[in-house]
Amino acid sequence: MFVSQQLSYKYALTAFFLFGLQGIVAVGGALELIFPDLTMPISYTSGRAFHLNISLYWPLLGMFAAIYFFFSRESGQEMYSRQLINVNYWLLVGTVVLVLGTLLLGYQEGREYLEALWPFKVATAISTILLSYNLMRTFWTAPVVKTRATLVSMLTGSLTLILFYVPNLFVYQHPTTDEIAKFLVVHLWEEMSLELIGIGVLAALLIEIGAVKRHLIETAVYLDVIFIAFAGILATGHHYYWIGVPAYWLWIGGIFSAMQVLPATVLLYSTLKNVSVKRFSELSNRDKITMGLIGSSTFYHIFGAGLLGFFMAYPPINRYVHGTYITSAHAHLALFGVFGFLVLALCFYILFYETVLNEKSYRWCWYAIGALNSGLMIMAGGLLLAGGLQCYFWRIIGLSIGETNELIRPYLALRAAGGGLYAMGSLGLTFLVIKSIWPNIRYFFYSTVPLPARQADLVRIRDLMMLFIEKAKIMEQVLRKILERLKKDR
Ligand code: HEM
Ligand code: HEM
Ligand SMILES: [Fe+2]
Repeated sequence: MFVSQQLSYKYALTAFFLFGLQGIVAVGGALELIFPDLTMPISYTSGRAFHLNISLYWPLLGMFAAIYFFFSRESGQEMYSRQLINVNYWLLVGTVVLVLGTLLLGYQEGREYLEALWPFKVATAISTILLSYNLMRTFWTAPVVKTRATLVSMLTGSLTLILFYVPNLFVYQHPTTDEIAKFLVVHLWEEMSLELIGIGVLAALLIEIGAVKRHLIETAVYLDVIFIAFAGILATGHHYYWIGVPAYWLWIGGIFSAMQVLPATVLLYSTLKNVSVKRFSELSNRDKITMGLIGSSTFYHIFGAGLLGFFMAYPPINRYVHGTYITSAHAHLALFGVFGFLVLALCFYILFYETVLNEKSYRWCWYAIGALNSGLMIMAGGLLLAGGLQCYFWRIIGLSIGETNELIRPYLALRAAGGGLYAMGSLGLTFLVIKSIWPNIRYFFYSTVPLPARQADLVRIRDLMMLFIEKAKIMEQVLRKILERLKKDR
């Protein structure tokens, strides 16, 4: 194991912490929509800006963890600068704390999803530059073939993070230009950069736990990189329908969005074809949880992002659903469903690389994942119903916004209930992770502090023993069957 990999622990831990925190603030916002007279310590506008920013930052921090962890592993060497990994951590975490703090106090610039004050945006851009610089320098000297798909995918994803963020450092007087810049992040960061990084780290993880063979997944990763880049860029058009750009964007957005279904399909096809499900029982507890989280992410990739997104991107339909709670359902299913679950899987895998998760906590982790999934489904179900009715009452039969809001309130209550369940799951999972890691917390921040009692070696021996026990169990069953047959034959 490389030191660079250990340095990524703190990123993963912080991502988990922010994920736990997000649930609490979000439930407050959901309640305020049902009971507008409720007095809250922060205004709805500040809470919403906080929610949107934390939604972008914790998956980003988790992705940074996964990139450092898997890039050094896949390139077969330490990262070019380990110092830079630490510097980047404190820069990014400091920025996130200041962004969230100032947003709660009501200081913001107004561009949705990118409300943070200018200096903090510059700091975020610097973080993405430091990441890419470290990756590039490592890539040049890597003693492996330069066409290794996992590395190429992570590197291109990281470079595009800079490309799409920088235009947001500027102020645009015209609202159309402002919207164009915003969607470079809201759409292209998510549907291109994070997709590219995600596919790279996911393939690396599946190879490492032995679920797929490298040569089988390489082609799928390359195909995905091409499809993501090809469809992703022009599919940005599905956000441009009503912002004041020429009408041909309706065509561009519609056609390229339809193509966006391709990457998820290739991913699903190659996963189903190449991942050996039989071996699930042979996986360690940690890897079973990781696979459970990856499975959840794949499910929402197909249904929440792919199919629901496809439905909404058709311009004659988008005309009605645009900006309704249907968009909100898609935003939650895609952003949390796809990237949230993926980042949780990656961070869980990384955090329990050298630390043990005891049996009891392991069982509770499954309950927490169950609560997250059911909470998200209930939340999305409530939002889809609320959004459907919004389209009908407001956009079709022409009721006022006030009347419509009264009528959809029960479904928003359903969403808040789902949010409550989700928050229980997110708090539970975060608590379990932090509790299990707490005895070694110093090690997670300073990798020079040794793990007590060569814990790392013990963990590896334990994993091998578990594998051995599983195999012994299978042997026992086979022997019993043979004995039974012998008895019958006699
Ligand atoms: C994992 C990938 C995805 C993520 C993270 C994601 C995220 C989001 C988010 C956060 C929004 C809300 C933007 C806003 O508030 O203005 C949104 C809107 C939208 N997304 Fe996605 N999305 C993904 C994939 C897709 C795909 C594959 C499609 C189409 C095939 C799609 C089509 C749309 C459309 C049409 C809208 C605009 C809805 C409206 O007009 O109100 N998305 N997406
Ligand atoms: C306890 C769970 C959650 C609750 C109760 C919740 C609640 C809310 C509320 C009240 C809004 C404001 C407007 C609306 O109703 O859509 C919102 C918007 C949003 N939330 Fe959440 N949220 C939760 C979790 C998450 C997570 C985990 C993510 C992503 C990581 C996320 C991403 C977003 C996004 C992108 C929007 C903007 C959607 C749009 O404007 O179309 N939320 N959420
Ligand atoms: Fe999009």
